[in-house]
Amino acid sequence: MLIYRKTSVTMLRAALFFCLALVVMGRPHIHEEHGNSMSKAQLNQETAQDNSVSLVNTANKEFAFRLYSALASQPDSQDKNIFLSPASVSVALAALSAGARGDTHKQLFTGLGFNSSLLNQDQVNQAFRGLLDKNVSQDATQGTAVFVDNKFKPNPEFLDTLKQSYLTDGFTVDFTKSTESADTINKYVSDKTNGEIDKMVDSLDEATVMYLLSYIHFKGTWKKSFDPQATREDTFEVDENTKVPVQMMNMEDNFQIYYDQAINTSVLHLPFNSSYSMLLMLPDEMETLEKAICPSHVTKWLKWMKSKRYDVFLPKFSIKSSYTLKQVLSEMGMTDMFGDRADLSGIAEGQKLAVSEVVHQATLDVNEEGATASGATGVTITLLSFRYIPILMFNRPFMVLILDCASQDILFMGKITNPNI
Ligand SMILES: *[C@@H]1O[C@H](CO)[C@@H](O)[C@H](O)[C@H]1NC(C)=O
Ligand SMILES: *[C@@H]1O[C@H](CO)[C@@H](O)[C@H](O)[C@H]1NC(C)=O
Ligand SMILES: *[C@@H]1O[C@H](CO)[C@@H](O)[C@H](O)[C@H]1NC(C)=O
Ligand SMILES: *[C@@H]1O[C@H](CO)[C@@H](O)[C@H](O)[C@H]1NC(C)=O
Repeated sequence: MLIYRKTSVTMLRAALFFCLALVVMGRPHIHEEHGNSMSKAQLNQETAQDNSVSLVNTANKEFAFRLYSALASQPDSQDKNIFLSPASVSVALAALSAGARGDTHKQLFTGLGFNSSLLNQDQVNQAFRGLLDKNVSQDATQGTAVFVDNKFKPNPEFLDTLKQSYLTDGFTVDFTKSTESADTINKYVSDKTNGEIDKMVDSLDEATVMYLLSYIHFKGTWKKSFDPQATREDTFEVDENTKVPVQMMNMEDNFQIYYDQAINTSVLHLPFNSSYSMLLMLPDEMETLEKAICPSHVTKWLKWMKSKRYDVFLPKFSIKSSYTLKQVLSEMGMTDMFGDRADLSGIAEGQKLAVSEVVHQATLDVNEEGATASGATGVTITLLSFRYIPILMFNRPFMVLILDCASQDILFMGKITNPNI
């Protein structure tokens, strides 16, 4: 097998690739025994709910890979680390879609991968409530918050949906005090991510009326920790011409590994001391892996993993990433929310609202004991009329007056039908 031949140095030839860094193993699917007393209607309703939860889960997985691939194909992403929390992005956009209407809603719904002939917004909301509400373990915490300008009055129904389905913490801020409101948001994100994301926003546009946020924080301990005594300096080959020093951890043990021959990629499964795991994919050609990766590959890898004795070398590292997603989400079809076509009338009626930016930040830290990762997504919603600059073009016949403003005496008056003559 290929991996076996690889020495510690060649094992590092390809760039390290973390796409789906965290997988929940054996996601607990609680199925209660239904007593005979339960009516058929109740059963049908429960089955429909189970079904919509599974449709939403599937859509979220597919969204993760589509978002990764859209980000990776941005011109400024080439040869850069990419790390993101798709879970955080999809929660933020799903909460936003609860306030979107018309085409804006359609685009968000489709963009997130929800099929509107099988799912409606209420079912999506309920499925997210299930995702946010469960206590899988103490390793992962996920949640949302909304910061509302003190002069802005959102629809109570929208706030209620956020609270009931997205378990949203609500805050009132004064967005005209841009530094103060940014500090409030930054402090909240920092608290929720254990200080790892400490500067979510720089300063906010004065036209901001609402800031919708989702966060996720994960801290896992390896089931088998690496021995710090075995960690050595080694080199990591970024590409043919670039080598960088790294602190290389090492462990010889039984590992769950799968070699995917179709894409020449070794997959290592490192379980945490919980229901979570990390999958690490080392391809011969990064492009081949990036093009092929999808939920069914992950399913296949987990299914066919074999435990075998290996000598594994993995660098310690700590990375941070920050993305503005406006371009990427527009390319994925979610365009209207960003412009004057935006229909966010579910958030507030009678006011022209639009999303000015979606920012995503994530961090990952891997060491001998385990891994820590965090992510946050912020959706800035602004009042469009603040920015809307109307156009007035004198490109057809018009009239002129020259007058004394005080007395309103008309000094000159005329009509211009053809400025050329
Ligand atoms: C949505 O679901 C319907 C009914 O199952 C199916 O016919 C249709 O192809 C689906 N649309 C998409 C985009 O998957
Ligand atoms: C989750 O855990 C917390 C603290 O242990 C507990 O208060 C809460 O009720 C739990 N929630 C669910 C849905 O089990
Ligand atoms: C996998 O590696 C083999 C041997 O180097 C090569 O012939 C084959 O084309 C590779 N497959 C892919 C999909 O890159
Ligand atoms: C993993 O969890 C088990 C059971 O909770 C505990 O006995 C063990 O010490 C933990 N291992 C590590 C490395 O934390």
